[in-house]
Amino acid sequence: MARDRRDFFYRKAKVDGYRSRAAYKLKQINEKFKLIEKEDTVIDLGAAPGGWLQVAKELSGGKVVGVDILPIEEIEGVDVIKGDIRLDRTVEKIRSKIKKEGADVVLCDAAPNMSGSWSYDHARSIDLATSAFECARKLLKNGGSFAVKVFQGDMFPDYLNKVRGSFGKVQAFSPEASRAASAEIYVIGKELLTDAVKMDGEYEVTIEDIGASGDGIARVNDFVVFVKDAQKGEKLKIRIRFIKPNFAFGERID
Ligand SMILES: C[S@@+](CC[C@H](N)C(=O)[O-])C[C@H]1O[C@@H](n2cnc3c(N)ncnc32)[C@H](O)[C@@H]1O
Repeated sequence: MARDRRDFFYRKAKVDGYRSRAAYKLKQINEKFKLIEKEDTVIDLGAAPGGWLQVAKELSGGKVVGVDILPIEEIEGVDVIKGDIRLDRTVEKIRSKIKKEGADVVLCDAAPNMSGSWSYDHARSIDLATSAFECARKLLKNGGSFAVKVFQGDMFPDYLNKVRGSFGKVQAFSPEASRAASAEIYVIGKELLTDAVKMDGEYEVTIEDIGASGDGIARVNDFVVFVKDAQKGEKLKIRIRFIKPNFAFGERID
């Protein structure tokens, strides 16, 4: 059954002109989560031979950058970089290709060469997925989206929690085009949260203004925080209770 399904997507990719059957995984991820929209800037980590890049370009039509340690054959309208996603210099090369405010979407389908030892392969997959998560935090704009492949194992729950700490909405998903017997799963993060404020963090602020809803408006590291029951000009201590991509809510704790 698993082999039938794999062969089905393999043959379909040949007919449809995609470089890999993995292309259908990204299509299925995007159908469910609507990560890539028209004109989005998309970065694909571990992109060779380029099936995801073809799909990303079709969906966005905007700037698409693919990165791999292996060469990627040219795709019209797509920038390719040869580099290791675990290295800072690769992140800098990617940054030089995209707009200043950051990318809309970071994807990662990177996989280590399989050794056959489950725990070793799992650990290397978590290592790659962790590098992808760090790239995403450095390269995404606030509110941006992330999708990453992980081979499941005992370190998976910790990894998922780490992603949950940085994105407003996080889900694990297994697309139909993945093999039934495969250990792979995709972690989808939407709404990258700012690192200007931390959940439950305590800050001293000055209320600069009162918003339309009557809440006080303060700033922490240039990030807008709404505070209930506060007066303009008041200096007070707050605890962050809720973070959205462009603002947070804090409660006064004095
Ligand atoms: C499953 S393939 C990606 C397939 C791709 N999504 C497609 O649709 O064609 C995984 C890729 O991850 C790459 N990879 C593994 N480790 C990497 C690393 N440290 N940096 C960059 N690429 C890496 C591999 O070279 C391989 O090309």
